Amino acid sequence: MTSTLFRTKSVEQSIQDTEEPEHALKKSLSALDLTVFGVGVIIGTGIFVLTGKVAKETAGPATALAFVAAGVVCALAALCYAEFASTVPVAGSAYTFSYASLGELPAWIIGWDLVLEFALGTAVVAVGWSGYVRSLMDNAGWHLPEVLTGPDAAEGFGFDILAFALVLALTVILVLGMKLSARVTTVVVAIKVAVVLIVIIAGAFFIKADNYKPFIPKAQEVPPGDSIQSPLIQLMFGYAPTNFGVLGIFTAASVVFFAFIGFDIVATAAEETRLPQRDMPRGILGSLLICTVLYVAVSIVVTGMQHYSELSVDAPLADAFKATGHPAYAGIISFGAAVGLTTVCMILLLGQTRVFFAMSRDGLLPRFFSHVHPKYKTPHRPTILLGVLIAILAGFTSLDELAELVNIGTLFAFVVVALSVIILRRTRPDLPRAFRTPMVPLVPILSVAASVWLMLNLPAETWLRFGIWMALGFVVYFAYGRSHSRLGRRGKQLGTDDAR
Ligand code: ALA
Repeated sequence: MTSTLFRTKSVEQSIQDTEEPEHALKKSLSALDLTVFGVGVIIGTGIFVLTGKVAKETAGPATALAFVAAGVVCALAALCYAEFASTVPVAGSAYTFSYASLGELPAWIIGWDLVLEFALGTAVVAVGWSGYVRSLMDNAGWHLPEVLTGPDAAEGFGFDILAFALVLALTVILVLGMKLSARVTTVVVAIKVAVVLIVIIAGAFFIKADNYKPFIPKAQEVPPGDSIQSPLIQLMFGYAPTNFGVLGIFTAASVVFFAFIGFDIVATAAEETRLPQRDMPRGILGSLLICTVLYVAVSIVVTGMQHYSELSVDAPLADAFKATGHPAYAGIISFGAAVGLTTVCMILLLGQTRVFFAMSRDGLLPRFFSHVHPKYKTPHRPTILLGVLIAILAGFTSLDELAELVNIGTLFAFVVVALSVIILRRTRPDLPRAFRTPMVPLVPILSVAASVWLMLNLPAETWLRFGIWMALGFVVYFAYGRSHSRLGRRGKQLGTDDAR
């Protein structure tokens, strides 16, 4: 029993599976496409929406330090992701990597976890997008009925029709093909980066040094009774839960971490990359570096423009310009944010369908979902199924809590990937690695420690929800995946133990 749970799929087998014509994706992406892809999904709700909330409630101007901390955690993880992505260039990201190194059950766990990250991430970003579009519509004097603006605004029943429509429209684009979506992405990413640069450059002229005092606001106790919403680490070590102060920077880092999610998704497109061994590491590390620099600059500028306690939580970047008397900039920024969030949503959805595709190709989910469309060469079945489900979820979702759940899932994936680097170096030292993580095992160990540290800074409530989702995953695996696994069946047919 234990040996079947930890049967590994060889790296050669993983690559060979992708070469069966019915189950193969088109190889069309370059390093530049990947970087654009990365920046396209990384810059989104995190910087456009969460910055304000975090600065106002948790870290003040020190939010810039929270971005640095989260960026360091991601850079460590990126060094591990890059080695795996360049060694095992098949769809499925951390899921595939762990199947080749840790075994089937850990791979299932990670795949299930990635489904959570991408599906909820897509829904969160769609809801953020809908908020910006509504604010633009309001400027033009068009107002949606409250019942169609989402569960928060309306009393009783509320459905976010814009978020729902966005996810459905993106599903259609993804079914029609990767190349089309990459082209659309390029234009949109250019608009988004331009808007971020406008915030930094124009905003720099409106900074008042007084707004940085104090740069790290004094710690403040959280009211008793909210303890399940306090960071787990504060509860574990019996601290009185606080906001702000030095601990607040780490709490903030565990939230703004959401702003970095996406570089790992670049790895999910490995199978569709022309030269994965060379281009994957470039795409992942390049997009991460660009975003970190932009985030630190944006948060310094915004907390300098307006005192942190006055920042808006819905559209902080645009509203800081309104507050300093420059509404024209605010309009441009809102427009760019709405356009930019579209690609974030699309790429999260893409990552989601690719993981699902890889899991079904392995038989852990029904094989029905792993056929590619004869004409468009895309995994249309999981794309349509998940697109519709996520669209409905987005319609009924409110933003805040789900973002933290996405973060914990992603950090957990980072832990597994870092461990996998160490294990695969020992079990398969012979594999060619176009990119090697430096200083193994030190860097992967630091990556595990840093990710766990951020996880511990998330609320106890988030841990509970994550536990429930993972428990459900175990049930599905033991009820379906384990007996339908293609690897398991192959092992039985051969009558050998090669699927150990
Ligand atoms: N990093 C992406 C965002 O901030 C998911 O929206």
